Amino acid sequence: MNIVLTGDRPTGRLHLGHYVGSLKRRVEIQNAKTSDQIYIMIADAQALTDNADNIDKVRRNILEVALDYMSCGIDPTQSTIFIQSQIPELCELSFYYMNLVTVSRLQRNPTVKNEIHLRNFKQSIPVGFFTYPISQAADITAFKANIVPVGEDQLPMIEQTREIVRSFNSTYQEVLVEPTAVLPENSTCSRLPGLDGAAKMSKSLGNCIYLADSSNDITKKIQSMFTDPTHLRVQDPGHTENNPVFIYLSAFANDEHFRAFLPEYQNLSELKAHYERGGLGDSKVKRFLNDILQAELKPIREKREALSNDVGQIFEILRQGSLHAQKAAATTLDQVKSAMGINYFK
Ligand code: TRP
Repeated sequence: MNIVLTGDRPTGRLHLGHYVGSLKRRVEIQNAKTSDQIYIMIADAQALTDNADNIDKVRRNILEVALDYMSCGIDPTQSTIFIQSQIPELCELSFYYMNLVTVSRLQRNPTVKNEIHLRNFKQSIPVGFFTYPISQAADITAFKANIVPVGEDQLPMIEQTREIVRSFNSTYQEVLVEPTAVLPENSTCSRLPGLDGAAKMSKSLGNCIYLADSSNDITKKIQSMFTDPTHLRVQDPGHTENNPVFIYLSAFANDEHFRAFLPEYQNLSELKAHYERGGLGDSKVKRFLNDILQAELKPIREKREALSNDVGQIFEILRQGSLHAQKAAATTLDQVKSAMGINYFK
């Protein structure tokens, strides 16, 4: 039995980092038809843990994220797309799991630590934000998901979930399933840097290419990308390491792209070698990257435009998906309460 669950916070449109880091993989998993159930969750409640005063942003982006999912190939007839806040069972599960996790364990979570630092919370960390790894464990275990396709930054959440599952199963009864994270096969895809070379593509840093960007925007963004600051003249030897243009190429370029757009090179190693030797200009490499990304993103953008003509239908899909997900979560919650012995009236 393979049950897949994953999701995203609706705090903005999805970008290329989400796409190579996780979205593409989800579509592959869906189309391989080796899973019994696939749940894709729009994590609005988790988004609110650091956006309590920003409901509008979260509300608006539910539709954007749903459009991004479907335009990339998530098919609502094969995968259940749902909205986290519509499943009250997730809150109940979190409440019981909270007793199985210590404050110091939460304080050690490297992703939460980094996010606290980025948001400059200092001493004013919202309790809901601090405990979101526990609620994420509820998201995963409510569906008995064993496979969680995510980017690398989510590994600490999966580890925390596994610990909660082991603790629950040994304290009460074997009800919950330990999940495994599935990362992209190509490790550069797990953490795509920003256009400016920053460690991560992130909306707050303004260094993203969005799935919904126009063809023109993509070209402009690629032209202004950070490259190797020591590669001043074409003839200078260049560095491909830590050079976002080359990192993007290793995430996206295949040999067919070379045949189609840059036939004077067979593959990425040849192109890299030339850049490192000197004599290859940034603009040529960027043009190649632009050709690849335009080809990859065009069908996604067109599908997105078509889907956004019928917003009512998208919300109907989300409503149906949430109903289906709620039933599955209710079954697990029943089992959890029985295992804990708090099913007094049964
Ligand atoms: N933490 C994820 C993110 O920031 C979103 C998320 C919430 C999630 N619950 C999940 C991902 C469960 C995988 C599984 O994007």
